[in-house]
Amino acid sequence: MVKHFLSLASFTQHELMDLVEKAQSFSHLLQTPEKIPPLLQHKIIANVFYEPSTRTRCSFEVAAKRLGGEVINFNPENSSVKKGETVYDTLKTLESLGVESLVFRHSDDHILEDLKSAFHLPLINAGAGKHEHPTQGLLDLLTLYQEFGKLQGLKVAVCGDIKHSRVAGSLMVAAKIFGIKIYLCGPDSLRPLSTDSMIEAADFDSTLPEVDAVMMLRIQIERHEGLELDAKTYHHQFGMNQRRQKMMQPHAIIMHPGPFNRGLEISDDMVEHPQSRIFKQMHNGVAARMAILDWAINRKGL
Ligand code: NCD
Repeated sequence: MVKHFLSLASFTQHELMDLVEKAQSFSHLLQTPEKIPPLLQHKIIANVFYEPSTRTRCSFEVAAKRLGGEVINFNPENSSVKKGETVYDTLKTLESLGVESLVFRHSDDHILEDLKSAFHLPLINAGAGKHEHPTQGLLDLLTLYQEFGKLQGLKVAVCGDIKHSRVAGSLMVAAKIFGIKIYLCGPDSLRPLSTDSMIEAADFDSTLPEVDAVMMLRIQIERHEGLELDAKTYHHQFGMNQRRQKMMQPHAIIMHPGPFNRGLEISDDMVEHPQSRIFKQMHNGVAARMAILDWAINRKGL
């Protein structure tokens, strides 16, 4: 059976914990890269990104290379996509070239679900519209697990454009699987309605003293039409800054998937604040993606 990695929802708590622990082992191994077993030797993965990316695409590349694999970075902008080739035909072309896995990002929420049955190599969701971003979900779980030694019972505030965020989408799926309490903060118009008891709307400032982590989110300007945003007002109402950091518990951490807009959803001085784990999340992105590539491509892995 082909092991696609499309949504965290297809995993049980036990399976997902195995992946978090596998990612944790890779994060230890990354301290001495020369000792990492070449689990992807002679394997080629293709990064196929129809939307911009810095962290996800580069960390997949680093992850594959750390495991001894090779990477093709397919760029739709200078490809036959410009001649009208469809997504299906593009992915089928790469499959027929013999690559071992396709890492795929697209603005459509469900395109991979629609295409998956036609493919015989693992498809990895590197960001599906505003739906899910499961590899980010795994690195976020790894970051929380490293910090607190557990996932069950943690409380996480999410603040920003939750409605259009695939990062929040995957975090909410993970929250239901692990029993993490999620507080949805930020502008009403950017908050989805929750139907789950683990996920509830809350006032940002009153939630801050209660939580173990705060996940700040970027306003997804590319998914809005005619959005007028006053940066100063938004930052005052919903931005992470020193005033809000002081309301958090000393053990609580600040997270953000990146890219962040300094001065909008997060002040300059918070990005590398001692309570921030933003760059740690990026670092963990490599270990998480090593675990996912190993899981998807190898029968026997680490
Ligand atoms: C996010 C994405 O592309 O979904 N970034 C990421 O992958 N780390 C978040 C965003 O664009 O706001």
